Amino acid sequence: MRQFARYPFRNPLEYNLHPMTSTTQLPAIKPSDHPPGPRQYFPGQIALSFGRDVLGFLMRMFREHGDVVYFRGVRQQFFILNHPDAVRDVLVTRDDCFIKGPALQRAKRTLGDGLLTSEGDLHRRQRRLAQPSFHPQRVARYGSVMAGIARDATDQWREGQQVNIHEEMMAITLRIVAKTLFDADVEADVETIGGSVDTSVKMFTRAMSPWGPLLNWLPLPSNRRFLRAQTHLFTTIDRFVVEHRAAGVDKGDLLSTLLKAHDAEQLADPMGDAADRDMRLRQELYTIFTAGHETTANALAFTLYLLAKNPQVEQQLLEELRQVLGSNLPTVEDVERLPYARMVLAESMRLYPPAWAIGRQAIRDVEIAGRVLPRDAVILTSQWVIHRDPRWYPDPEKFDPQRWTPEARSQRPRWSYFPFGGGSRQCIGESFAWMEAILVLAAILPKWKIELTDAKPLILRPTITLRPKEGIPMRLRKR
Ligand code: HEM
Repeated sequence: MRQFARYPFRNPLEYNLHPMTSTTQLPAIKPSDHPPGPRQYFPGQIALSFGRDVLGFLMRMFREHGDVVYFRGVRQQFFILNHPDAVRDVLVTRDDCFIKGPALQRAKRTLGDGLLTSEGDLHRRQRRLAQPSFHPQRVARYGSVMAGIARDATDQWREGQQVNIHEEMMAITLRIVAKTLFDADVEADVETIGGSVDTSVKMFTRAMSPWGPLLNWLPLPSNRRFLRAQTHLFTTIDRFVVEHRAAGVDKGDLLSTLLKAHDAEQLADPMGDAADRDMRLRQELYTIFTAGHETTANALAFTLYLLAKNPQVEQQLLEELRQVLGSNLPTVEDVERLPYARMVLAESMRLYPPAWAIGRQAIRDVEIAGRVLPRDAVILTSQWVIHRDPRWYPDPEKFDPQRWTPEARSQRPRWSYFPFGGGSRQCIGESFAWMEAILVLAAILPKWKIELTDAKPLILRPTITLRPKEGIPMRLRKR
């Protein structure tokens, strides 16, 4: 069997934007037809407010202009859609009219052509291949690994220790994704891999900026750091592949499935570009490796932060855990017996959605929310905003898991909550993430009380995911 080609670094700037973005032809729409939106007194003013505080900007647009907001950017028209019905139409009923938005198109610099960023036939093929590894029955098999890794990690914790809980959660979810989907141990490299993921994810702020492509060309230290981080992550992925091939066993995990498909392609077309094929596989694995732990780690860190600030909720959760688990480590069968844990997580992802906005670009004129959105327009729907809409969530800043009883849920429109997106691009790892987050919480909380060390407000950094800007310092207390 052919060895996996060594990682030939390709300049990430070679990834072109989707062709649609380079042929911007705005249809003639009379200004009076536009929905309301912010005024711009000098060119680039909106881009500046967007870049300075994107969550504040989106909230302000909603409060000042309502369910459909319009503005014109440097090259494109923008629509922010703040109503659940519009979310449903963009993600589900009319999803054939959209491709991913410019930010994810530019994120190909970080993620290559993996499942998150690819389009059309390539996306459908990748999704079909990866789907079986994320089937709920398959995910159930990962349960004992998930709880075991959480327990082993927290066995290293010491009474009174002060930690950055975000980093701790990243280390746990990183080990989980490596073991379950790639059958790899990353014990020795958790810190360095975590550091490289951190550098890559921070670069995503560039993808949201209209000046990003220009900055990427300059010889900036940030560009060098990014290239180093990406080389490190690709080398790690290559190690997984080499170890997997050396073991010579098909364990039915995601890596086995994707490698089998890769080899079949190679056999079917031996004259094809092998290096290109290897690069595509690498990008695919890299996307799942990164997407598969960052988001869940953020959700867990925000949940522990919210529990520390809401002792009554924490107490109720502890009672459920004690009743169901006694002093045992949680198992897959326990997950369905922990409804309050699920409600706590749902409420945490309402307030701090790890994916805080979804962007799309129209590939043809399409009518949504009673408006014609022209071809090429950029559409934004934001979980940060819609999850805080007082029409669906009275007293929206309050952390209240009771919003997630079946009765309370039935009172709200389905698409007033979409932490995992929806439609053909819905998160492939949703069942994985729920099971992992519940098992990790259930493995930690009966043993450890995790307290805030100070009353400083949480500062957020919205990049490709929503994460705490400077981590979350917390103190560990044995129960
Ligand atoms: C709390 C945890 C998670 C959240 C909030 C989350 C959120 C999301 C969202 C909103 C999307 C859709 C993006 C869009 O429509 O543009 C998405 C896609 C995706 N997620 Fe997740 N995710 C989580 C966990 C995971 C896990 C555990 C994995 C893998 C192990 C994963 C892998 C992916 C992949 C590969 C895609 C692209 C799917 C496609 O386009 O076909 N995610 N995620």
